[in-house]
This record gives sequence, C-alpha cells and structure tokens, in this order.
Amino acid sequence: METRVDEIAARVYRLSTFLPAVGPKGFTFNQFLIDAEQPLLFHCGQRSLFPSVSRAVTTIMDLRRLRWITFSHIEADECGALGEWLAAAPDATVTHGAIGCAIWLNDQAPRPPRALADGEVLDLGGRRVRRLDTPHVPHCWDAGLLYEETTGTLFTSDLLTHLGNPAPVTDGDILEPAMAAERHFGYTPLSPRTGATIRRLARLEPRTLAVMHGSSFSGAGAPLLDRLADFYDDLLAKSGASRG
Ligand SMILES: [Fe+2]
Ligand SMILES: [Fe+2]
Repeated sequence: METRVDEIAARVYRLSTFLPAVGPKGFTFNQFLIDAEQPLLFHCGQRSLFPSVSRAVTTIMDLRRLRWITFSHIEADECGALGEWLAAAPDATVTHGAIGCAIWLNDQAPRPPRALADGEVLDLGGRRVRRLDTPHVPHCWDAGLLYEETTGTLFTSDLLTHLGNPAPVTDGDILEPAMAAERHFGYTPLSPRTGATIRRLARLEPRTLAVMHGSSFSGAGAPLLDRLADFYDDLLAKSGASRG
C-alpha cells in the first residue's frame, strides 16, 4: 500500500491511497493536509491506512506539529483512525460540528473535541477554514464540509465521488463520472434539502474542489456544484414519480 502526495493548492496537500479491490474499478481514499502555522488534517482514513498515510505526512512535516483533526462525518474512511492520529500528535484537537460531537465524539473521542458552529471559522495562521453544516449531504446527520478561504478550496468529502485512480487534479469533467458513481452506489439520501444544501456551497465560488474519492478539481467550482444540485433534484423528482 502506498500513499501519494500532491500539492493541489498552495500548502494544501492531497494524500491519496488507491485500493484496487474496492468497487468495480478500484477506489482512492484521499485525506487532505493544510500546512499552516496550526496544521489541519481533513479526514483520518481507515485504521488500516494509518501507517501509510501518516508516513506520507512525514514527507511534508513532523506529525507532532499537527494541531487540528476534522472530518465530514462519522464513517470509517472519514474518521476510523482518529485514535491513531491523536496518539501520534499529542497537541492535536479533534473538531467537528455540534451534532457530531453530541452523538459521537463527546463519548468516543480519546480527548475532548472542540465543537464548531455552522459558519464558524478557525484561523490556522496563514490559512482560514470555515465549517459548513450539511446534514445528510453527502450522508449522515452530522455531515459538514470545510472551506479554506485563502486558497478558495472546498473540501467536498464524498460529494463528487468517482471511481478508479484518476489524475490527482484535473480541470476536466468530474461531474459525469461522479453522477455515474452516485447511480452505482446510491450513497446520498435524497431529500428536498439536498439540492439547496449543495447550492449554498456553490455560492462560495470555490476555485479548487478537494474530492475524497477521485480527482480534485481545479477551476470554477460554482457551475459544477449547481449542476450537481440539479442532478440530485432530478433524482429526487424521479424517485417520487417511481413511488407513484
Ligand atoms: Fe462517507
Ligand atoms: Fe468517503
């Protein structure tokens, strides 16, 4: 198992591990490191990935510098290795939305978490990240995403998931493969709020989309997210029609 490292925006690193046996074409599991005065890790990866991903981080910085650990939602690839990361980085604090702290971290985290409100900003020193609550998008009640204001990077978690082991960053089309993956896995619970939640993200006008499974996207993020919102609205409308 090997984790490759690519800088997808200034001092924003993608740590990508390809697992060929997952799904019909293999699957990438991507964590992201923001190397600021107070470095932040977005997504922990599964416990089985920790040796490889943590080794990749050491090619960028000393693990013990890590100050913040956060993730979109409670699931093994998003936060399975939380305990391992907290043990390796004694000054790191785990942070998550209020719901995620209430339903999981306050009880399960090895150290007390720091709850972030919707829209709250963490100043990392040279980089600023804003927490955005996105309940049930891509899935799970506690779901939220992170937006780094300095580089205009939106960390999309499972939104825009696509299969295989494509290029680390692209300015090409990731929407078609993402829609195909959604049709294949059906991982997003559709609700009348799904499209609106994604359109709120589009209004940030991100310049980079840091995608957890597949290529990151460099370019105008707003039109892509608006089209993704339209796709989910359409899926919801069709699911209602099929229920008759
Ligand atoms: Fe997930
Ligand atoms: Fe994921």
